[in-house]
Amino acid sequence: MGFGDGKVVDIHTHMYPPEYVKILESRTTMPLVRSFPGSEDPRLILLDTELPLLKEAEAAKSRGETPTSLPGRPLTKHYSSLSQKMHFMETHEIDISVVSLANPWLDFLSPEEAGPIAESINADFSRMCEEKCGRLFFFAALPLTAPQDVILSSINHVAGLPYCRGVILGTSGLGKGLDDPELLPIFHALAEAKLMIFLHPHYGLPNEVWGPRATENYGHVLPLALGFPMETTIAVTRMYLAGVFDQVPQLNMLLAHSGGTLPFLAGRIESCILHDGHLHHAGTKPKKTIWEVLSSQVYLDAVVYSDVGLKAAVHASGPDGHERLMFGTDHPFFPPLGSDEDGEWESVTWNGAAVKKAFGYGGTKDEEMESEEGKKVRGVMGGNAVRVLNLRRDGCR
Ligand code: URA
Ligand code: ZN
Repeated sequence: MGFGDGKVVDIHTHMYPPEYVKILESRTTMPLVRSFPGSEDPRLILLDTELPLLKEAEAAKSRGETPTSLPGRPLTKHYSSLSQKMHFMETHEIDISVVSLANPWLDFLSPEEAGPIAESINADFSRMCEEKCGRLFFFAALPLTAPQDVILSSINHVAGLPYCRGVILGTSGLGKGLDDPELLPIFHALAEAKLMIFLHPHYGLPNEVWGPRATENYGHVLPLALGFPMETTIAVTRMYLAGVFDQVPQLNMLLAHSGGTLPFLAGRIESCILHDGHLHHAGTKPKKTIWEVLSSQVYLDAVVYSDVGLKAAVHASGPDGHERLMFGTDHPFFPPLGSDEDGEWESVTWNGAAVKKAFGYGGTKDEEMESEEGKKVRGVMGGNAVRVLNLRRDGCR
């Protein structure tokens, strides 16, 4: 992508290891994988908004017909093949990827199966990283439906894996959201183990907010463009209001999609707290301001596809905000529709171009690379991730 000699690091990039796909294939409720006549690839069906189309397609299939619209997205080799991930990295000149299990992680497993499956999936990621020594690191998945002692021992276990740099977490936590006091021991354990939480949405907003025309007419646009970012914003704001950042000051979080809408709404959150009679009388205002949290405990990815959102993310993250932002791709989601999936992905080039534009940087020549803007661009494209997540691995062949 042309960012000089700095390393390009993708911190937002997912995989479903083959074992996870098998679990989805065996399921009868969402999330699941299903094959339909007329579709070469099986369909990966994840989101609640996909349920009406799933029902229609299953009904057509049971009548022996080809469904007119297919639910979900094609489950291509991009989702579980390591060689495809490496090919994608080569195509886009990405030196290092910090891979994570994609949504909805292990959130749907029974309490008994969650622990062993988490161990096995994390071992898959660990093996892949080992094989590509120094090119891959990972965020582990936690068995959040298991009893607390199992979750804590999983944190202990992944903290010892040489390529693990944190955990990926959805917004439901133990089922009641991230302001649940029962999560505090888990947040303490993650902070103590110096494991970054990569917070990622999955559940979106209730289907009704999209209106009656959405399923038939608007594809995935509303839940992905708006539902996902609002979900993240709400989850972090609830954590903030519950005082989690005050109580666990060493907790570090990396927020997907540049924090949803948090950079844009932080001032409004701050003002609503200041003017809230209930918080005022109860004396339950968070101790740190939201701006303090954003500039000390929160990192943002740069997966927002425009310099406008990125500028807000940099400004919201404090005086050294450019040091808290990290490039990502969201591969294998958002493949190109009109061109070869093995070629260049617009979802990647848009994010790269947005980083350059956000810092007013147009150059490729050596002297421009050394400018202040050039350094900031290289930081966001990879330098920040290498520093914050310690992405160095000695002894690789
Ligand atoms: N859709 C998903 O379900 N997950 C992502 O990460 C991106 C798009
Ligand atoms: Zn993602």
